[in-house]
Amino acid sequence: MSAGNGGCGAGLDGRGRYGRVVITDPIAELAVPIVVAPMAGGVSSPELVAGAVEAGAFAFLPSGYVTAGVLREQIARTRELTGKPFGVNIFVPSVKSTEDLSGYGELVGAEARERYGVEAGTASWDDDHYAAKVDVVVETGIPVVSFTFGLPGVEDVARLKEAGASVVVTVTTPGEARAAAERGADVLCVQGGAAGGHRSVFTDDPAHPGGAPLYDLLPALRLIAADVDLPLVAAGGLTTGADIAAVVAAGAVAAQLGTVFMRCPEAGTNATQRAALAAGERETTLTRAFTGRPARGLVNRFIVEHQGAPSAYPDLHNLTRPVRAAAGKAGDADGMSLWAGQAYRLAKDIPVADLIHELITDAKAAATVLARRLGVTG
Ligand SMILES: Cc1cc2nc3c(=O)[nH]c(=O)nc-3n(C[C@H](O)[C@H](O)[C@H](O)COP(=O)(O)O)c2cc1C
Repeated sequence: MSAGNGGCGAGLDGRGRYGRVVITDPIAELAVPIVVAPMAGGVSSPELVAGAVEAGAFAFLPSGYVTAGVLREQIARTRELTGKPFGVNIFVPSVKSTEDLSGYGELVGAEARERYGVEAGTASWDDDHYAAKVDVVVETGIPVVSFTFGLPGVEDVARLKEAGASVVVTVTTPGEARAAAERGADVLCVQGGAAGGHRSVFTDDPAHPGGAPLYDLLPALRLIAADVDLPLVAAGGLTTGADIAAVVAAGAVAAQLGTVFMRCPEAGTNATQRAALAAGERETTLTRAFTGRPARGLVNRFIVEHQGAPSAYPDLHNLTRPVRAAAGKAGDADGMSLWAGQAYRLAKDIPVADLIHELITDAKAAATVLARRLGVTG
């Protein structure tokens, strides 16, 4: 069956460019090896996604934290803005925490009341409407579906492939990459330790600040490429065209960039976070304080005061949600999550199409410099 949201027939013919793996997705066929990352919380808005694909890149609409109905509306809105194909990202439900969260709940509850005059949320688990979202992407013919935080179910992978979609799984270690390949992923998104936002670790090991051993992007790419015969999309800390050239030279089919697009006018980034990114004064760190799952963001008071936060996603996300919302409303950058990758200072306040064109020009220049340095003449 031909897949696509509005005419992506080319590139879906399964030519099998990667040996035994039959590639059927637009990512591996991209003219421009740039992917705009799914950024939940409204950041990767339909406007950002449409602007990116219109400029020749690929982009993912996030579905984290919204209902299946809202996802359906966002897909429709994006299709009003562009006839080009785009992907959708889905959170895989995390393993339920068995930790006693009452102590952390009391701490956050007191802070919510005293500082912001609101009640904290309830530390509860949910599956982020996983099954209903898989239904939506199948029903709406989304051609590329990426999964984060774990492996999609065996039946879901089969269903998506049957519908003509290709399946991307985000991995952070060689072990996760092997598991994703066994599950039938068509493409892996390799997320290095510099990445902004949540780490996609399948299991959050409290012994590690990052939930698992923290691999830098290039070593992760090389190690995973040695183990797994799948196209790899590289993510984490990439902000310039030279970075894109570097990961493509290292064997990636494309570079997935998130933070660098957060200041684009089309992005739904909150004004307080935009200002913190523009100021460039804070370092980034990994924290579980806001959601119970390791994520990279700008250091602020909340992170510093809650360094021993338990591993319990999405329980802590639900617990802290009113605090983050109240802080955001009050313009208090010290009480909200300010997700950002390590190289966030290089993000620019320019339209997404301009940024993509700049990245392409810069990548070409970097490749030319490298070819000269290596004495490549032909
Ligand atoms: C604000 C923000 C939100 C994010 N939300 C998601 C998401 O919903 N799904 C996902 O797979 N990755 C998400 N990520 C991670 C990105 O997919 C990607 O790994 C990361 O942005 C790459 O690092 P960079 O930000 O340094 O470019 C998010 C990242 C940021 C900065």
